[in-house]
Amino acid sequence: MKIGAVIVAAGRGERAGGGVPKQYRRLGGFFVLTRTLLRLLHREVFDSIIVVVNPADADHIAAVEAELDIKLETIPGGATRTASVRAGLDRARDLGLDAVMIHDAARPFLGDALIDRLVKGLDEHPAVIPALPVADALFRGEDETMGDPVSRDGLYAAQTPQAFHLAPLLNAYARLGDTALPDDAAVIRAAGGEVALVAGEAENFKLTTQADFIRAERQIMSETITVTGQGYDVHRLETADSMWLCGIEIKAGLGLVGHSDADAGLHALTDAVLGAAGAGDIGQHFPPSDPQWKGAASDAFLLHAIKLLKEAGGELVHADITLIAERPKIGPHRDAMRARVAELTGLPEARVNIKATTTEKLGFTGRGEGLAAQAIVTARLTS
Ligand code: CTP
Ligand code: MG
Repeated sequence: MKIGAVIVAAGRGERAGGGVPKQYRRLGGFFVLTRTLLRLLHREVFDSIIVVVNPADADHIAAVEAELDIKLETIPGGATRTASVRAGLDRARDLGLDAVMIHDAARPFLGDALIDRLVKGLDEHPAVIPALPVADALFRGEDETMGDPVSRDGLYAAQTPQAFHLAPLLNAYARLGDTALPDDAAVIRAAGGEVALVAGEAENFKLTTQADFIRAERQIMSETITVTGQGYDVHRLETADSMWLCGIEIKAGLGLVGHSDADAGLHALTDAVLGAAGAGDIGQHFPPSDPQWKGAASDAFLLHAIKLLKEAGGELVHADITLIAERPKIGPHRDAMRARVAELTGLPEARVNIKATTTEKLGFTGRGEGLAAQAIVTARLTS
C-alpha cells in the first residue's frame, strides 16, 4: 500500500496571533512546520509528503526548506481547511497513492506509536482516526451561567493524523459540495461512511492559541537535555593587510597564518559546536592535509558543525567567544562580529557574546606571536 502524507499548512493562525501564521513561528529553535515534518520524515512510512501552503508564505516555506535541507512538494491551499485538504487530495490522486494521512501542520508532537497504530488500522479500515476521551465534566452554558450538564460518556475529541484509503475519501469529498467541515472524518461521516478509532495522544495537541505555544515550549524542555561544548584555537600572527576573525575582515596590518582563512574565532566556535554534538573535532571533519580547505572561508566549517548538531537532534541556544590577543583591538569590531556570528548560527544577537582580553604581555599572546580563541556553546539535545 502506497501511503502519502498531506500536511495542511495554509491557515492564517488568527487565534494564535504572533505576526506570522503559527506553523512558521519558532518553537524551541525550529519552525513549527519543520518539527511536524521531521516527525513524518523520520518514520519512513510515507511514499510522498504533500504540503498544502498559502502562496503568500513563499519566504517562510523557503526558510523551512533551508532548515530541513530538502525541497518540499508544496501545493496551494484554499480559504478553508476543507478546501486545502481537497487540493492535497487532488495531488495524492495524481501521484497514484493508495492511502493518505491528513495532518495539521499545527500539531508538531505526533508520536511514532500513533503513526504505527494508524498504519495498522488502514489494513482493516478505510478510515481511522485518533481520538481522546473527554476528561472534563461538560455542560451547556450561556452568558457566564451554567445550563444543563452533558454526559461525557461516549464523547471524544478528534486529532490528526487521520488516515484513509484514498478512493473512498475522494468520493466523500466529491459528494460534499461547497460545505466546509472541521476535519476529514466528518467528511466521511457526511457521506455515510464508517470511521474507526484508535487511541490519540495527549501530547499531540494542536497549537491554537498563544497559551498552547507556552505549553509546547514546556513540553519540549521536558523532552530535552542541556549540554555544553567547548572549543579552543590558536593561530600565529604575522604582518599582513588583513585577517579574518569571527567571520569578519579586520584591516589592521595583521594577519593570521593557517591552512584555511585561519579564523581562530570561528574555529573555536566550530569545535565547541562539534563538542555539543558529540562529533569529534574540526581536524577530523576538515583535515588540514586536504587541499580543498586551503584558504577556505571558515563559515563552511561552522555551518557543517551546526548541521551535524541538528542531525544529532540538537539545537544551539547560546554562544560565548573569548578572543585573547594584545592586537588587533577587538572593541571596534565586536558588534560586527556578534552580528555575523548570529547570522551564521541562526541565533538571535542577544544569545551571542564576543569578549576579548589580553594576557598582560605574558606568553605567546602577550608577545604578539599569536592569537588564541575560546568558545563555549550551550545546546539542547532531544533526550
Ligand atoms: N488550514 C489550511 N487551510 C486553511 C485553514 C487551515 O491548511 N484555509 C490548516 C492550518 O494551517 C492548520 C490546520 O489546518 O495546520 C488546522 O487549522 P487551524 O488550527 O484552524 O489553523 P488556522 O486556520 O491557521 O488558525 P485560525 O483558525 O486560528 O486562523
Ligand atoms: Mg482555522
